[in-house]
Amino acid sequence: MQTIIVGDKLAEKLAQYLRLDVITIEERVFPDGEIKPKLKKEIKADNAVLLLQKRESENINDYLIKYFLIARKIKETVPKLIGIMPYFPYARQDAVFEDGEPISSLYLGELLSHILDVFITCNMHEHRKKISDLFRIPAYNLSLFNDLAKYFNDLNPQETIVIGPDREAKTFVDDFCQNFPAEKIILAKERNTKTGEISFSEKNFDFQNKNIIIIDDMVATGGTIFEVATMVQKAKAKTISFVFVHPVFGDASVESLLKLNPQKIVTTNTIENSKYQLDINECLNNFLKQELKI
Ligand code: R5P
Repeated sequence: MQTIIVGDKLAEKLAQYLRLDVITIEERVFPDGEIKPKLKKEIKADNAVLLLQKRESENINDYLIKYFLIARKIKETVPKLIGIMPYFPYARQDAVFEDGEPISSLYLGELLSHILDVFITCNMHEHRKKISDLFRIPAYNLSLFNDLAKYFNDLNPQETIVIGPDREAKTFVDDFCQNFPAEKIILAKERNTKTGEISFSEKNFDFQNKNIIIIDDMVATGGTIFEVATMVQKAKAKTISFVFVHPVFGDASVESLLKLNPQKIVTTNTIENSKYQLDINECLNNFLKQELKI
């Protein structure tokens, strides 16, 4: 069975890890915004793995349409297509919050299920819906938090507390603490759906002499981490660090947190940025080899 990797620079790196051939794509954008992605070579293989990373300045909808078009093209000649989308967009719209809204993550999962045979993503926001609720094909949501713990080997877990901003972050904190057995605190974040304002019910902590690691799946506006960090600073923490998987605005997501003077900011390259520590190819490579026998 011949497998080929298709995609961008991240895909080229994955191909090196897996020692497989790669076909890259080029793309053209027309003045009206239409996108034409093009395979640089014809594909002849039994399996293809499509990996595209959302570029830092790329509009998320342009990314999605490019992914869809190139995936559909590959399926014309390749019987089995494994689609890897490191950051799955629209995942937070996983319910009807107000009448008239779409369940965007579900509709996107349905669409991709028509083209792909297998879907892989990383730390998709599984709040009200699991990945298996969205896709009609085998779909995997890989957690990167176990791997992210290795960047804290210099901290003593006994003197450290790992904090998740909301109930949903519990799984992230649990995964992280498998490799970093520190005390855990899961806060109860409330977000006003009209104003976006964030608040927490618990406020009166004492973190003197403690290192604090705040963990979340993504940083978008930075509002969530900023609120937690402000509370942690008031509680007199010794140091404060941030760990998150998806820098939604690339470098700007990381930079927005620098004003909080963290000891460390640790993130990944699910979305293009220059500040990441963990290359997701390390995890994708292991998963593809061990679980999918690529
Ligand atoms: C929400 O539940 C997510 O897990 C993140 O906490 C949230 O999306 C982060 O967004 P922001 O940086 O805009 O607060």
